[in-house]
Amino acid sequence: MINSAKRLIVALDMKDETEALRLVEELVPKVQQFKVGMALFYSAGPQIVEAIHRRGADVFLDLKLHDIPNTVEGAGHALAQRKVWMTNVHASGGVEMMKAARRALPDTILLAVTVLTSWQQDDFNDFLGISGSIETTVEQWSRAAQKAGLDGVVCSPEEIRTVREALGPEFLIVTPGIRPEWAAADDQKRIMTPARAVALGSDYLVIGRPITKADDPGRAVERIIGALRDEDEKGVDSFDE
Ligand code: C5P
Repeated sequence: MINSAKRLIVALDMKDETEALRLVEELVPKVQQFKVGMALFYSAGPQIVEAIHRRGADVFLDLKLHDIPNTVEGAGHALAQRKVWMTNVHASGGVEMMKAARRALPDTILLAVTVLTSWQQDDFNDFLGISGSIETTVEQWSRAAQKAGLDGVVCSPEEIRTVREALGPEFLIVTPGIRPEWAAADDQKRIMTPARAVALGSDYLVIGRPITKADDPGRAVERIIGALRDEDEKGVDSFDE
C-alpha cells in the first residue's frame, strides 16, 4: 500500500518559477511530489523539473501529450532524460499512441487522461460524435490504457469506483477535484474529501489551492496527511477483520 504521505501530489499552478520553488522548499519533506502543469512548464522551461529534484522532491509532469504516435514517442524520450516520476497522455490519442509513449518512458509512471471533466454529456456526444455516457467512455478508455501497458488513469472522483471495479486493484487512479471539509470549493463543481477518495480506491490525490492558497501551507498539508493516515489505518483494520 502507498504510504499515506506519499498519496499527496501538490499542484503547482502558478506561472512564476520563484514562487513555485519557494513553495516546494517550504513543503519538502512533508510533501514528496509536485505536479507541474503546462503553465509553469512553458513559462519556467524544462529546467523546472531539475530544480524541483534538487530540492528533494519528485515531479508529476502534467503535459497531457496528444499527437501522432511517432511524435509522442519523441516527446517521451525527451521527458525520460528529465527523469520525471509521473506523466500523462490523452487516452483519446489511441492505443498505438499510448504504446509509443510507454516505449519511450519505461521507467516513469505513465497515466492516461480519460475524459476531461470540462466536457458536458451533450457536447461530448454531439461534438465528438461518441455515443453513450461519459462514464462508459472513461471505463473503455481506461481498459485501453491498461492494454497499452500504462500504469493508470487520471479521473474525476466520481469515476473512481467504476475504474477501480473494472480495472482491478493494481491499476493506479489519480484524482484532482479534492477538497478537505475545511477548504473552499473554488471553481471545482464536484468535489470529494481526501479520505472519501481514498476509501473509494484512489491512489494519489492532486490538490492545489487548499494548500497553495492557505495562510499556512505546511499546516494544510499536515491536516490532509493526517486525514489520509486515519483512512489508510481504517482500511488496514477492515482488511484484518
Ligand atoms: O487547486 P485545485 O486543487 O483545484 O487544483 C487541482 C489541479 O488538478 C489543477 O492543476 C487542475 O488543473 C487539475 N485538474 C482538475 N480537474 C480536472 C483535471 C485536472 O482540477 N478534471
